[in-house]
Amino acid sequence: MTTADAEPAAATAAYAGLRRQDPELADVVLGELARQSTSLQLIAAENFTSQAVLTALGSPLANKYAEGYPGARHHGGCELVDVAERIATDRAKALFGADHANVQPHSGSAAVLAAYAALLRPGDTVLAMGLPYGGHLTHGSPANFSGRWFDFVGYGLDPETGLIDYDQVRALARTHRPKAIVCGSIAYPRHIDYAAFRAVADDVGAHLIADAAHPVGLVAGGAAPNPVPYADVVCATTHKVLRGPRGGMILCRGELAERVDRAVFPFTQGGAQMHTIAAKAVAFGEAATPAFTAYAHQVVANAKVLAEALAGEGFDISTGGTDTHLILADPAPQGVTAAVARGRLAAAGLVLDTCALPHGDGRGLRLGTAAVTTQGMGEGEMARIAALFAGAVREEAKVRDGVRELAGRFPPYPSAGTSAERGGSAPA
Ligand SMILES: Cc1ncc(COP(=O)(O)O)c(C=O)c1O
Repeated sequence: MTTADAEPAAATAAYAGLRRQDPELADVVLGELARQSTSLQLIAAENFTSQAVLTALGSPLANKYAEGYPGARHHGGCELVDVAERIATDRAKALFGADHANVQPHSGSAAVLAAYAALLRPGDTVLAMGLPYGGHLTHGSPANFSGRWFDFVGYGLDPETGLIDYDQVRALARTHRPKAIVCGSIAYPRHIDYAAFRAVADDVGAHLIADAAHPVGLVAGGAAPNPVPYADVVCATTHKVLRGPRGGMILCRGELAERVDRAVFPFTQGGAQMHTIAAKAVAFGEAATPAFTAYAHQVVANAKVLAEALAGEGFDISTGGTDTHLILADPAPQGVTAAVARGRLAAAGLVLDTCALPHGDGRGLRLGTAAVTTQGMGEGEMARIAALFAGAVREEAKVRDGVRELAGRFPPYPSAGTSAERGGSAPA
């Protein structure tokens, strides 16, 4: 099948200009639309934005240089982008109950870098989840600025339960006296007890940084606890369950606002990306609607059903289930490694990642329900996905056809690759 064969007719119309001017790139863009529409996106960090978010991203705000903050820019002509940024920060503050929001970080990593810059000095000790247990690169990887510039101590997970051992966190904090404690993970499927982390931080006089890149969308929809009342600084991405454009955000208490803002610009970034900030504002507006609250709860309901069904298919589910959009599954009982399983799943059109497991040295499969839930799938479809998943790992025939059939019934962009009449947004 060629890319052109896979293109919905309306999508072809929507991208006619690009195809005329640059057919090589049009093939890539429309090929990617076809890939996303004919396979199942189970990568826990991905989602489908609304058309309104895509429209803001592709708007003339992309042309605008805007170093600084609203009302205090180093460039002229910022009157309107100032309005966009104020709308974004006001919506973020209201959504999460934060005193202050900075919506400029270009990514989740940039948000974490700025949080460290605001609170720490090079060489300071930081306590965070160890990378082998689900800590992010920015939580002390030697390959990342964090591991190079700070002295990270890692806490682990209970090897039996896969849960955070808060007694271990407290003991490590008392021994190492960190300047900051980071809570947040790329794969932890359970709610984090922010009050417990706050108590440990207070016990040793450390700052508490919540890296809520994954759960922040669930927080917006009232389906996960909010770290804002507990953490000094909350870092987040805007593109996961939150369903906005790729980017980062920082929330903090009023007294840290100036330090955080200076840590983002001019310390770690130059000009803000105003088209992305406008798209973040659109996404925050969508996330404040009852439709998004229902979506966030459905994401979790779907993940619980999918985790249970995968357990029924013989996968070992870390922590025995999930509270969130995330599932961590060990395929070892099927007699395959995570790398082999991921390859078989990819061949069948089930797209996901491998990830460290809390026990042993092996890796597991990390998957999430944010994208398939945006497509409108519910509990019934989760049971079907679990059957397809198990069939793919066992290399059964016809699984690719089953995935294509299921995905085809829930197109992410039904009209023209461009609809997303959801989340309270008006289709552009
Ligand atoms: C916990 C956590 N922190 C930070 C990030 C970094 O986000 P980005 O990829 O936007 O830099 C991620 C991304 O997956 C994450 O899961």
